Amino acid sequence: DTIEWDAEAAEKGGYDSYMLKEIYEQPQALTNTLIGRLHDETGEVNLDINLDPASFKRISIIACGTAYYAGLVGEYLIEQLARIPVEVDVASEYRYRDPIVSPETLAIVISQSGETIDTLEALREAKKGGARTLGVINAKGSSMTRELDDTLYIHAGPEIGVASTKAYTSMVGAMLMLALWLARARGTLSEEAGKELLHATRELPRLVEEALSEERVSRIREVAERYAHARDYLFLGRGVNAPTAFEGALKLKEISYIHAEGYAAGEMKHGPIALIDANLPVVVVGTESRLLEKTISNVQEVRARAGRVILLLSDGDTENAQHADDVLYVPRSHEMVSPIVNVVTLQLLSYFTATHLGKDVDKPRNLAKSVTVE
Ligand code: G6P
Repeated sequence: DTIEWDAEAAEKGGYDSYMLKEIYEQPQALTNTLIGRLHDETGEVNLDINLDPASFKRISIIACGTAYYAGLVGEYLIEQLARIPVEVDVASEYRYRDPIVSPETLAIVISQSGETIDTLEALREAKKGGARTLGVINAKGSSMTRELDDTLYIHAGPEIGVASTKAYTSMVGAMLMLALWLARARGTLSEEAGKELLHATRELPRLVEEALSEERVSRIREVAERYAHARDYLFLGRGVNAPTAFEGALKLKEISYIHAEGYAAGEMKHGPIALIDANLPVVVVGTESRLLEKTISNVQEVRARAGRVILLLSDGDTENAQHADDVLYVPRSHEMVSPIVNVVTLQLLSYFTATHLGKDVDKPRNLAKSVTVE
């Protein structure tokens, strides 16, 4: 009835869906994740965590779905910045694989809901082996938070859309802060590099806001609609943005039901290259990076086989634009923080593909917001 409809429309704050609203909430959500935790002058990271950051020999990151991809970004950041060995598992594997755990293990579980049963059981498994445990969690007072030694809340606010958007970027923001916190405690980061990264992190809400500018969004929509009838999609990225490609593929399949695969770009030649033809759009994260040249040579391999390339490039990179069928420019950011900025464009690409195909983006078929049974 009308009253109910009005209430729901009001909750969507003028947006057509919760998902779109949540995509646009990302600058604010990120601000809430970061606020009060980073101190520019001193370079200090204050996360209110009681665990001793210098006492771990290894880290296990455990999560499901989108949170797992936030974990993969975290692995890259922690190893790179804090030089601690990290492994990342999907929770359903971790809990049954008799993992190697000791009191020198820090188990980090990442979860929006704090209720996902596989992640909760994996947390119990880690505790059984004597690990210390830390959660990167959105939902206050959720089941996991009651069993964790410490919780780093991401403060993204309620997420209603089944496909995770703002929780993902806030989770990655939290992993970035954790990596900085560990690096500082372990002395693995020079003061200069530390300050530069802190500054780049603080810039994130502004950069994400910029990634959501009207001009960029309408361009993404145009590109999404052009390729909306593809049967398959391939997403490529490397380094810290390999998980960005995985998450881009996950978003697309979740809400548009187009089959999509995410691959580390350098691995393309070992399989997915066989799929490339004129009907396969290939989305490539080609933003500024140490390895950009290598990514561009992957792009050329796709084009040589008539594949269609949709290339994400950093603002101002006109030189590499020639290699693409369609370019989506994204704001320039420090490579280590760029997964947060870059993924926003992929979220919107999925969103506009799905809405163009008439799909219900907030309630995709067969999926649940939170999976509390095995
Ligand atoms: C479900 C949702 C995903 C989510 C995953 C993990 O599959 O559909 O969007 O990423 O669960 O949820 P969590 O609450 O643990 O982050």
